[in-house]
Amino acid sequence: MTEPTLGIIGGTGWLGGAIAKAVLAKNLLPASNLVVSNRSGTHPLARQGVCLVADNQALVDRSDIVIIAVRPEQFAGLTLNAMGKTVISLMAGITAQAIVAQSSASSVVRAMPNAAVEIGQSFTPWYCAGAVEPATKSLVQRLFECVGTAAEVQQEDFIDYLSALSGTGPAFPALLMTALANQAMAAGIPAEIAQLAAQNVVVNSSQLLASHDARQMIDALVAYRGVTAAALQSMTQGHFEAQVGRALQAGAAVARKGLQA
Ligand SMILES: NC(=O)c1ccc[n+]([C@@H]2O[C@H](COP(=O)([O-])OP(=O)(O)OC[C@H]3O[C@@H](n4cnc5c(N)ncnc54)[C@H](OP(=O)(O)O)[C@@H]3O)[C@@H](O)[C@H]2O)c1
Repeated sequence: MTEPTLGIIGGTGWLGGAIAKAVLAKNLLPASNLVVSNRSGTHPLARQGVCLVADNQALVDRSDIVIIAVRPEQFAGLTLNAMGKTVISLMAGITAQAIVAQSSASSVVRAMPNAAVEIGQSFTPWYCAGAVEPATKSLVQRLFECVGTAAEVQQEDFIDYLSALSGTGPAFPALLMTALANQAMAAGIPAEIAQLAAQNVVVNSSQLLASHDARQMIDALVAYRGVTAAALQSMTQGHFEAQVGRALQAGAAVARKGLQA
């Protein structure tokens, strides 16, 4: 497939808009091969040469591949016939089967980016339901590489589980940063210093993990038997990993149950 046309339903929203902008910025497709829709009919993307429509069927008819980037509760209100097309859904908690039933799409790709699309640092797992041409799969991978890294997964349930993991983006680090700062303040550290220290741990020092193996780093720090070892051991004894497991299962259960209104 050369220079396909990509349609993004809800392409002016937070996630759809970020993907549309990245597609243009990374030259994946020219603006003339991008169609976006919304109900309100206005958006600055139109000034960059992107075609903006209010009629979702017109978008589908013009597109080779259609992304659905509306909120899960807005999905029930979509009327479209995407027979013969591949539909990529970014919606959490809506099954491929439900998307085929409502859109008649020939194949569905479920993908789960995260909030870091905004800074080109998302991880996007994606899953193909139905036969998807190798050229289309390659486009899907390149599309999500415009906003970070991406990988195909072989089970649809992995998307629901990963919605609660990488789909949450900065949520777990935000929780950790808040807990570290709150506990430091409770221990008498001035608020400004507590926040700087917690931010450094979560945002700055963690950059080392981009080039170091996390497990090896933990083992080395525990073997050193110093301050860090005592802190880490206290967390381990408090069943930190089991707590993380329960948190992921709680999120995945919501994704599996479905978020459709
Ligand atoms: N936020 C995250 O971190 C994250 C991560 C992974 C996946 N997701 C998924 O991304 C999807 C979008 O989330 P979001 O935060 O980007 O929502 P959003 O900012 O509210 O964007 C939704 C867009 O859809 C448009 N829209 C709604 N109904 C429409 C319709 N019938 N036809 C055409 N356009 C329509 C809206 O524009 P108008 O109001 O002008 O119609 C709006 O621009 C959700 O399904 C969510 O599960 C989000």
